[in-house]
Amino acid sequence: MLDVDHKSYWGNYYSYFPALSRYIPLGEYARRVRPRACVLGISDGKFALPLLRAGWEVVGVETDQLFLNGGELDLVDGHHDIVGLYDRIAAEGFEDRCKVVEQDYMTLPAEADFQLVMGSGLWSMPPNRQHTLRELVHHAMNMVAPGGIFFGEYLIALNDDERQCGYYPDTAGMQEIVTRPGWELFENADLGIRGESHLGYEQWHYHRYAAAIVHRMPLPSAPTPK
Ligand SMILES: C[S@@+](CC[C@H](N)C(=O)[O-])C[C@H]1O[C@@H](n2cnc3c(N)ncnc32)[C@H](O)[C@@H]1O
Repeated sequence: MLDVDHKSYWGNYYSYFPALSRYIPLGEYARRVRPRACVLGISDGKFALPLLRAGWEVVGVETDQLFLNGGELDLVDGHHDIVGLYDRIAAEGFEDRCKVVEQDYMTLPAEADFQLVMGSGLWSMPPNRQHTLRELVHHAMNMVAPGGIFFGEYLIALNDDERQCGYYPDTAGMQEIVTRPGWELFENADLGIRGESHLGYEQWHYHRYAAAIVHRMPLPSAPTPK
């Protein structure tokens, strides 16, 4: 069973990530086939480390130096020592299977060469507001290889500001975005409201979580000669 890495700074914040166990190769098959995942906003490895432990190769995209290189944080809930992604990868000997790209993922080519592309809680962040939600999600989906999976964890609006900005769709809005020729929607779930406080939003607040899991259909194969 896949689970998040609970030692990550983000480890105890809710995620639907374990549900991916139903759709992606794990165990001996993954260790032999070495499928490739792209984790958008890899941060300190909450999702990347479990995928690496399960045998995947991971390309992580991130621009936040604190979570890549480590450091210290003093927040309303106390002091946090952040162990950066690079140290966490090295501690488990995954350097050869994890490549980190320190860039905005919207500047990367989308070449349909990953068996899994995933992002969680990033589309509403300020740097992404130069793009529409549709552009952000479609660019990520375009990185998925035929036969692969897109996992998009997003937030549903809880107030007027969130409703009007366009980055907190309801499930119908997200369904409209991910419904594309050649794609099949496996799940699009409203996962409920949770209270939290964290870096970037320390005042106690609520988020309504949701996630879409979408499958890129395999290309039709040539008929086998009789
Ligand atoms: C709020 S954190 C969430 C961390 C973790 N993924 C989780 O869900 O618990 C989102 C991360 O995505 C990164 N991020 C946001 N937009 C990005 C983009 N366009 N390209 C690369 N990284 C991005 C941020 O720097 C941040 O570290």
